[in-house]
Amino acid sequence: MNATITATAHYVPEKILTNHDLEKIIDTSDEWIQSRTGITQRHIVGKNEATSDLCTQIAKQLLEKRGLSSDEIQIIIICTCTPDYFAPSTAALVQNNIGASKAWGFDLSGACTGFLYGLETGAKFIESGQYQRVMVIGVDSMSTIMDYTDRNICVLFGDGGGGAILESTITEMGIIDSILRIDGSGADYLIMPGGGSRQPATVKSIKSRQHYLKQDGKTVYKFAVKGMADVSKDILTRNNLTGDDISLFIPHQANKRIIDATAARCGLSEDKVLINIGKYGNTTAGTIPLALSEAVDDGRLNNGNILLLAAFGAGFTWGSMLIKWNTHP
Ligand code: ACO
Repeated sequence: MNATITATAHYVPEKILTNHDLEKIIDTSDEWIQSRTGITQRHIVGKNEATSDLCTQIAKQLLEKRGLSSDEIQIIIICTCTPDYFAPSTAALVQNNIGASKAWGFDLSGACTGFLYGLETGAKFIESGQYQRVMVIGVDSMSTIMDYTDRNICVLFGDGGGGAILESTITEMGIIDSILRIDGSGADYLIMPGGGSRQPATVKSIKSRQHYLKQDGKTVYKFAVKGMADVSKDILTRNNLTGDDISLFIPHQANKRIIDATAARCGLSEDKVLINIGKYGNTTAGTIPLALSEAVDDGRLNNGNILLLAAFGAGFTWGSMLIKWNTHP
């Protein structure tokens, strides 16, 4: 029994923050941001908008595209590090919004690798034979934890994401392999120090801006290229594949230079690499499902194509996944 993706969808909030908008609030330039990252704009949530709202839009589209009623969804997995609340879970809010009366679900925190962790988790439920339909959504509202006085980080991120419905298949199609990793020795390099049980919110913690994401950009960059390239090469090798066998590579969209370096190390030509970071920035757990959904909408995936996914993020977490694509009406 394999798990296969039978529907994809994506959603980003309406509000757009361009590089030129950022030029007005911090000491930066469109030229610097574009040349260092490939980003020209990002979408950000409005005042009364949160992660569960974006997830709900995606969940509704998924049901419509696959022609399912919400009662047919058995598990809802929301991959995010920017949930609406610590409790209840974002999955609970989405369940209620779509009326999935027979589902259970949970939030999964894997940062930028979250969607790969989610697909792997959902696939295992399906492969067990106990579940037939799992909804996996990756969304982050990174603008809610961005320090818009810190130019080292605030230019990189945006809000949005996408999702997929996983169903069972007795064919050899679907998710065929994955390599997933975590290494907490990298925790301090990309961290939001405040707001959790280590440093609950106090006037002092808020004044010292502990509730924003902080990073050592150079170190993250170095580990990201090596991490994504290593697991991408390893998954190809252990499946007797080369870059030539891959129809499409969808990497986590953190920085165009990280993507280019990873693709080069894996022997993947430019035309096989999906890059949409220019429009959205880094939406953390949202980047891969957002790009996947766009690829499907643009007709970039045909039956039998081998798709390679790879991600790297806070934790550190990283991973790769191979999918033999099957198209669904
Ligand atoms: N605008 C203008 N100047 C800036 C900005 C900015 N937004 N940000 C930093 N600078 C300045 C720095 O202060 C520095 O100035 P200095 O030399 O006077 O000190 C100068 O630009 C060069 O900075 P570098 O850090 O050398 O720039 P670099 O080429 O390394 O690019 C970047 C920085 C884009 C952050 C890069 O390191 C990177 O992408 N790292 C990965 C981080 C990442 O993607 N994190 C996301 C989460 S993890 C993930 O998703 C993989």
